[in-house]
Amino acid sequence: MQITSPNPAGQVVTKSDQLVRKPPEFTVIGKGRSAFVFRDERSHHAVKVFFDQFADLAKQEGDIYKKLGDCSYFPNIHEVGPNYIVMEYIEGNTFYECLQKGIPITDEMIKEVDEALDFARSVGLNPSDIHLRNLILTNEGMVKVIDVVRFTQNKKCRQWDDLKRGYHRYYKKSFLKKIPKSIIELVALYYKKVVVPFRAKEMTE
Ligand SMILES: Nc1ncnc2c1ncn2[C@@H]1O[C@H](COP(=O)(O)OP(=O)(O)O)[C@@H](O)[C@H]1O
Ligand SMILES: [Mg+2]
Repeated sequence: MQITSPNPAGQVVTKSDQLVRKPPEFTVIGKGRSAFVFRDERSHHAVKVFFDQFADLAKQEGDIYKKLGDCSYFPNIHEVGPNYIVMEYIEGNTFYECLQKGIPITDEMIKEVDEALDFARSVGLNPSDIHLRNLILTNEGMVKVIDVVRFTQNKKCRQWDDLKRGYHRYYKKSFLKKIPKSIIELVALYYKKVVVPFRAKEMTE
């Protein structure tokens, strides 16, 4: 008797953070620090398969999505496996892609992210790792927050406050709404290598 995995996520093979093999019905839609994300072309769901060293995060992220219930700012979760989660596929552009393509980021979108994060706090979570690639503007103009795996950490995350400051200080005042990838990456690098370590140093002094 042939035993088949109920979800083909079991057939995804990764080595460190490299993709070695995937089932043909899976299309890669993203890669982050801890996982590959695919669209299952049969169900049209998004399947996040964690790298081996982060497999434990699947249950953690699944539990957090369950806590967020069916709040419309977060994708619905359909299944939690040993190293993967299956969730609603969000069709649209990450805020990062919005910047690259010149799709305007608006006050309303910023307000909606704030509402999503307030909701997460109201159910006892600590929104963390909120950056441009974890925020999606859907094709219908709604905002969705993804990648909630670090919402149970204790450390205060200042990324969203810093992004909002950048939005009000620079983005809103600039006529340039389409920003080349190299410039976005340069700002992100400066943030990671200069601002974050400077803050950490300040805290220990
Ligand atoms: N539910 C989803 N719908 C559409 N795209 C998604 C979805 N989840 C993730 N992605 C895409 O995959 C990328 C990586 O997913 P993410 O959950 O952020 O992984 P990581 O935890 O490794 O950072 C995201 O930046 C986004 O482009
Ligand atoms: Mg991410």
